[in-house]
Amino acid sequence: MEVLRIEGLSKVFGSGRLEVRALEDINLTVSAGDLVALLGPSGSGKTTMLLCASLILDPTAGKIIFDGQTIFQKNGWSGGVDIRRIRREKMGFIFQAHNLIPFLTARQNVLFPLSLVGLKGDASQRRVMELLGYMEIADRADYLPALLSGGEQQRVAIARALANNPRLILADEPTASLDTVRGKKVMELLKKIAKENQSAVIVVTHDVRMIEGFDYVYHLKDGHLHHQVN
Ligand SMILES: Nc1ncnc2c1ncn2[C@@H]1O[C@H](COP(=O)(O)OP(=O)(O)OP(=O)(O)O)[C@@H](O)[C@H]1O
Ligand SMILES: [Mg+2]
Repeated sequence: MEVLRIEGLSKVFGSGRLEVRALEDINLTVSAGDLVALLGPSGSGKTTMLLCASLILDPTAGKIIFDGQTIFQKNGWSGGVDIRRIRREKMGFIFQAHNLIPFLTARQNVLFPLSLVGLKGDASQRRVMELLGYMEIADRADYLPALLSGGEQQRVAIARALANNPRLILADEPTASLDTVRGKKVMELLKKIAKENQSAVIVVTHDVRMIEGFDYVYHLKDGHLHHQVN
């Protein structure tokens, strides 16, 4: 089942002398259960692509269909879309810097997205501990982020991204702050999530050692997307 379809997506920053054409006519379809790698050198547009796909950044041109709904269409009707709600309920984000809230414990950080969609009480507590258990970090549930290692923090961040059982997970260099062994482990977990939860997972990386077993591999170069047969 198709989760995300991007058609003719372009993103231009600035204008005139300062114009940067970050993405040029990108086409991409991602289905439930797909584990997709997005490779490319620094400045090639990888982060911009994730931000445009989730409409955190406004695309300059193109069309985006998410979970059967047109969420963006330049020069066409895409009104009535509550993108914040869609992000909250159906997307999960994992960034290079884990972005955990420093004054909340691991448990409270994972609980946070659940509270935003109104899930409270025992059911939400159970869900949080299930997620922390799945990420093999349950024994650190009551620690503040500062007391966890980089890899542990990243696993909490992944648990948080999974909290609402998202249709789509967007991960931007989730292993960048980890050593190779821990990085591979995080990638294995993302693979498990794609297959077991049938989430679509797009992972940005520039480390080709990390993409073993991915279903699709794409390269961004100067804003153009190329498919690599894996
Ligand atoms: N807000 C912005 N304003 C102007 N230019 C920007 C902006 N954000 C990104 N760019 C430019 O767009 C291009 C793509 O940037 P992007 O951050 O997507 O690259 P990237 O592939 O994620 O790089 P890295 O691997 O270093 O994270 C770069 O040339 C960058 O300078
Ligand atoms: Mg980037």
